[in-house]
Amino acid sequence: MRSRNLPILSALLLTLSCNARSIAKPGHSTQDSPEKDARAADSPDSGLDADAGLVDDGFVRLQELTDENPDPHIVEVSLEAQLASLALVDDTAHTHRTYNGTIPGPLIRANKGDQLIVKLKNSLADPTTIHWHGMRVPNGMDGVPGVTQEVVAPGGSFRYEYPLLDASAFWYHPHFQTLEQVGDGLYGAVLVSDPDEPPDLGRETVMAISDISLFEDGTPQHHPDTDETTVFGREGATLLVNGQTAQRMQVTSGERLRFRVLNMARSRYLALQLTGHSFLRIGGDGGLNEFPVEEAITQLTPGERADLIVEPHGEPGTHVNLVTLPVERGAGATTAIGPEVLIRLEFKDEPKLKPRKLPALSRDIPLADTKDALEIQMELTVGTEDEHVVMGINGVPFEEASPLHAIVGEPQIWRVVNETGYSHPFHLHGFHFQVLDESGTAESPLRYKDTIDIPPQETRLLVPIFEARPGKWMFHCHILDHAEAGMMGVLELSETDEGNGWEVPPGGTTPAENLAVLSVDDFAALVATQAYREPPWVAETATARPRTSPVSPHGDVRVFANDTLLKSLAKGNAVTRGDDGLLEASLDSQHDTGSMAVKEFYEGDQVVGHAVYRKLAGPAAAAAYYCEGPQSRCGISSSPPAYGEGFGIDCGFCHGGVVFTVNFPEVTGN
Ligand code: C2O
Ligand code: CU
Repeated sequence: MRSRNLPILSALLLTLSCNARSIAKPGHSTQDSPEKDARAADSPDSGLDADAGLVDDGFVRLQELTDENPDPHIVEVSLEAQLASLALVDDTAHTHRTYNGTIPGPLIRANKGDQLIVKLKNSLADPTTIHWHGMRVPNGMDGVPGVTQEVVAPGGSFRYEYPLLDASAFWYHPHFQTLEQVGDGLYGAVLVSDPDEPPDLGRETVMAISDISLFEDGTPQHHPDTDETTVFGREGATLLVNGQTAQRMQVTSGERLRFRVLNMARSRYLALQLTGHSFLRIGGDGGLNEFPVEEAITQLTPGERADLIVEPHGEPGTHVNLVTLPVERGAGATTAIGPEVLIRLEFKDEPKLKPRKLPALSRDIPLADTKDALEIQMELTVGTEDEHVVMGINGVPFEEASPLHAIVGEPQIWRVVNETGYSHPFHLHGFHFQVLDESGTAESPLRYKDTIDIPPQETRLLVPIFEARPGKWMFHCHILDHAEAGMMGVLELSETDEGNGWEVPPGGTTPAENLAVLSVDDFAALVATQAYREPPWVAETATARPRTSPVSPHGDVRVFANDTLLKSLAKGNAVTRGDDGLLEASLDSQHDTGSMAVKEFYEGDQVVGHAVYRKLAGPAAAAAYYCEGPQSRCGISSSPPAYGEGFGIDCGFCHGGVVFTVNFPEVTGN
């Protein structure tokens, strides 16, 4: 096994787990005006904390779950997915999918470092799961059916248990039938507090914002009825704050408030504004930012969170509105929509409070390592198939995509390009990423993100931080209509390069163990003669890694080389042309991305193939691929072709091509 070079990551993990153990649990000290919330289900077995919540400011807070575990460092709660009859839009009750009978589901409160145990019971007629959005959980706890766990069948249950590594506002929702389940009412918030953060950040309020649409007969609108709805995403006609319309909150002028805002809507973008004021945005998805910034408008895509401080000022008896402004996210998003009021802040008949100094807030966020990073291009795409809208990544809808590979600690840059005419909120499961602009400059302040807007025709560079939690992890657009239409992919994170991308058949060996050893020259010859089309290549690699592509019967090949060989690969000197006249190496079209090199092969003017060398990890590993086709679609091409044009290497997203690997000998010395 090769050693990994992860100084920043392991340091970070160490700090987190050290903090973790010295933490007291929060008291359940705040909350609730039960008279207004007719939905409060505080029967003894509802799991809801009947005493939680006392702030009498008129604002309806989320129900909270009772911690069933006496250990101060364990939070153990029960969630039941169940149908409930609720009147969300007007006075008429309708049946919705809920957690514990409320929409949103109850708030789970814990401290950073606690162990969270959630016992899910599925009392729905359909299977379900829970995904913990934004949390760095072990792979088996990520809640993706068929990928990280089996579905929880009707009547079944599942125990989620993991340590809370980060302090922030997170949320939970199913990852099964998301349009119906999340789009209806299965979503809830988790607030993980940091007991070590400075006091005096303001009176804290969790605001779970979502929306809902009912058909005329009152049934919830789930499925997009037209392709237009798919493209636009279903925005519910009614905005909900903690499941309520027309929320209000009594405040004292000058009072410091802290809003923990979560966008749980299926498609709607939020642009928060408190008329006449600005927010101090201190954090978001992955906790506090490097430093706070003032924002007149705070935009949140579906899935994103914001940690805001604001001190509203006004005369007693007057009010100021927290509104969401229309967001131009393409596809006619702002047509006939004006600002909508989320909460009316009403000034109490009390003297203004004097301004107080805000505690210094800064967080040391190390810049993710991008040296020698493998750059992966991900184009968010839309097309049609059988006259229906199909979305995808690099032109490939989720069902047909093969996984993208990475190794724990491997630096990668994901260049996410939005070629469509509308915005997509890009979400990665299980890991934080940092964001760079198109030129590669890190954003300021630095933050840990898990969901980010990619506006139309724009590009963002994301640097995921691959800690040692191997497994399959989803990434997708968090407009759930888009995800469902195919804009979703899987990252397969391996512990070591030995296992990278390879599924070892039961009783089998890894390809590295049983592939033939070829010299660089033999590799070139193999490419030239197409001998790789014959056994043993085909049979062996096909069992090693079954592929989904219909035109890629060939398997993968691996290369092991030392620095010297890698250097020569990068210089384009490793593979020379075969002498059958078919393949010709051209040094001009060599792309060298540091850890990756591509060569193009010509037949006349026509590019007929690519050889791609990819450094897998460690000082001496590399992979070689050869693909037949005019363009590489592996993310390193500077101008990827439109979907349908030719083949690519099958390194993640590509369809087809011929992919094989060669086990080069270890080259020693210079
Ligand atoms: Cu909230 Cu797969 O995501
Ligand atoms: Cu999208």
